[in-house]
Amino acid sequence: MPNQTPPEIQAVLDWRNGDLPVSTRFDDPYFSLANGLAETRHVFLDGNDLPVRLHPGFHIAELGFGTGLNLLAVVLVAEVPIRFTSFEAYPMAAPDIRRALAAFPEAAAVAGPFLDVWAQGQRVFQLGHVAVEVVVGDARDTLPAWGGRADAWFLDGFSPAKNPELWSPDLMAQVARHTAPGGTFATYTAAGFVRRGLQAAGFGVERRKGHGTKRHMTTGSLHP
Ligand SMILES: C[S@@+](CC[C@H](N)C(=O)[O-])C[C@H]1O[C@@H](n2cnc3c(N)ncnc32)[C@H](O)[C@@H]1O
Repeated sequence: MPNQTPPEIQAVLDWRNGDLPVSTRFDDPYFSLANGLAETRHVFLDGNDLPVRLHPGFHIAELGFGTGLNLLAVVLVAEVPIRFTSFEAYPMAAPDIRRALAAFPEAAAVAGPFLDVWAQGQRVFQLGHVAVEVVVGDARDTLPAWGGRADAWFLDGFSPAKNPELWSPDLMAQVARHTAPGGTFATYTAAGFVRRGLQAAGFGVERRKGHGTKRHMTTGSLHP
């Protein structure tokens, strides 16, 4: 039978300061220069009140898988079986992910089994307590078709100025439609059009202190 899965369109990278991956397509880095793992914990974990909310079957979803750093930050704190689904249009090659993660020894320490299966093209796998699925394709197509609902969203596209398609009001409405009752989101950006899109989609939106020198970030929960 012919393989029905379309070929993946791989990420194309430049490396800045040695080991910071920068997308050539979007002209933007994958994570902050000033400690990406600390930023992940502040924005996406604390921003969704994790890990205290985790319970068996809890489902995290993400826009923009990139290096998998956010996944690994979750793996490091998950002590019960949970799910993590990420939407990614341009998967990175395993050697590029390995190189990027080398800057974060704590995350790299749990990344081995992920990198092994990723290199073989597996996009559904188990890592520690976390059942992972990376849905490959443009989230504008794949999220509307998704059958799941997340308890917490990590909105982690490139900056809204450079990657506006991953922050559009239509896509934020899809995020809301795929959020469980009481579900939340967190993102590092405080861009007005993103906040307004999330509000229009039905989220109560809050501004919190950003990581490091960043003044603001945005969190919210779905109106009951
Ligand atoms: C800032 S990076 C994500 C970083 C990532 N969460 C990590 O832990 O390394 C943004 C990601 O969004 C992806 N992306 C951009 N536009 C997209 C789209 N329309 N659909 C799905 N993914 C997209 C990029 O390829 C990139 O991997």
